[in-house]
Amino acid sequence: MRRWLAAPLLIALTAWGVPPLGAQEPSPDEQRTQEQIQEAAKRPYANDLGPDEIDVSGYPPQMQRSYALFARRCSRCHTLARAVNSQWASPAFWEHYVRVMWHKPGSQINGSEARQLWEFLVHDSQVRKLDRREEFEAFRERLLEEFQQQYPDRYQELYAGLEEEAAKLW
Ligand code: HEC
Repeated sequence: MRRWLAAPLLIALTAWGVPPLGAQEPSPDEQRTQEQIQEAAKRPYANDLGPDEIDVSGYPPQMQRSYALFARRCSRCHTLARAVNSQWASPAFWEHYVRVMWHKPGSQINGSEARQLWEFLVHDSQVRKLDRREEFEAFRERLLEEFQQQYPDRYQELYAGLEEEAAKLW
């Protein structure tokens, strides 16, 4: 091909042949995450109505680093509030829930992160929930009342007949 022909062709290819960066198709993993975001939004929890962050300034440095990971990984499909205000507190319950979230399609959590997230949740639950049980359970009762007013049907589905259990730490 002659030089004078190649140059305009190259310009045409860069201008039209390659989609602009921002307009790329989402990756399959990103699409799966999007589906989970919709799933999580369809089914709210009382947890969602509470704060969506934790003051970790008094936590050991290692736990402060883990909090940064937790804040990134556990807020992709629902806000962080869902984990922060959960009634799950014991190592065994958190092991179960971290596994469930880790194995959700598009979670983008790997095995070693899952362990670190679990360690953070166990530490945080001890300090913020189990060591101040009465205060936390009273706080959950308030969340549940507010949730019942805002989402009566979902409240029935999740907590009807389980009002006592839903406020307690597990
Ligand atoms: C890939 C999307 C996704 C990610 C990432 C994710 N979650 Fe979830 N989570 C969901 C969906 C969807 C639901 C609601 C459906 C359900 O109950 O399983 C949910 C529900 C929950 C609940 C409420 C369950 C209950 O019965 O109380 C808690 C607590 C929770 N997530 C904590 C976490 C934690 C902790 C992390 C980080 C380790 C996390 N999530 C990361 C999608 C995700």
